[in-house]
Amino acid sequence: MSLRRVQTKPAQGGIAARHVAIIMDGNGRWAKKRHLPRAVGHQRGVEAVRALVRAAREMGLQTLTLYAFSTENWNRPEDEVSALMGLLKRYILADLKEFVENNVRLQIIGNWRAMAPDVVALLDDALTQTAGNDGTTLVVALNYGAQDEIARAAAKAATKGAITPETIAAELDTADLPPLDLLIRTSGEVRLSNFLLWQAAYAEMVFTDVLWPDFTPDHLREALEEFAGRERRYGGR
Ligand code: FPP
Repeated sequence: MSLRRVQTKPAQGGIAARHVAIIMDGNGRWAKKRHLPRAVGHQRGVEAVRALVRAAREMGLQTLTLYAFSTENWNRPEDEVSALMGLLKRYILADLKEFVENNVRLQIIGNWRAMAPDVVALLDDALTQTAGNDGTTLVVALNYGAQDEIARAAAKAATKGAITPETIAAELDTADLPPLDLLIRTSGEVRLSNFLLWQAAYAEMVFTDVLWPDFTPDHLREALEEFAGRERRYGGR
């Protein structure tokens, strides 16, 4: 069943997901299994990103959020951090034209303006070039930590008045995005790792053993079908 059909006619009468987020895990293990350098795993991870973004756009998914670099990832060896930054820059440079031509809007969450000036400039340009698009929104989490995001939002809310769940939510990096419906994590790990902690309050979760470089659009379709079949009660009955 194609996702387009899932979205217009979800399995078991469920509702189609508008906002899907993914913790892309397992690049290192994918490479290790093949006796390859970790950087090759990350490279193949970018290929999986590219295929998934194309599929999400073709499916008409409203928002896809990808955890690309966490506030904790700076603790990795310098050569791995620099390989990840290089891959990110090359991906944006290579695919920006495709985003512009196919109505993909780029958005970045996290403390990304604190990253290297060349990365910030590249992202700023990509944001500007895709700002007018209203198809799929591709949200890339960079230098992102949910606790950092919530603390920044609470601090901003405090300068404006009362701190309530609503005033904090209005200051989150995701404030203008649809509510998170489905959170997927690959590679068999079952934890959130400081990703979208606030937004995940009522999200459905799918954990899969598939390592990120092996994750295909069909895996996304399966997760969306599972989502459509779940009953969401938001704490009610
Ligand atoms: C986890 O694998 C993955 C990351 C830390 C980074 C994810 C980054 C990419 C897929 C590439 C860059 C992203 C974009 C959007 C171009 P891991 O290294 O933690 O794997 P392991 O747990 O098996 O060691």
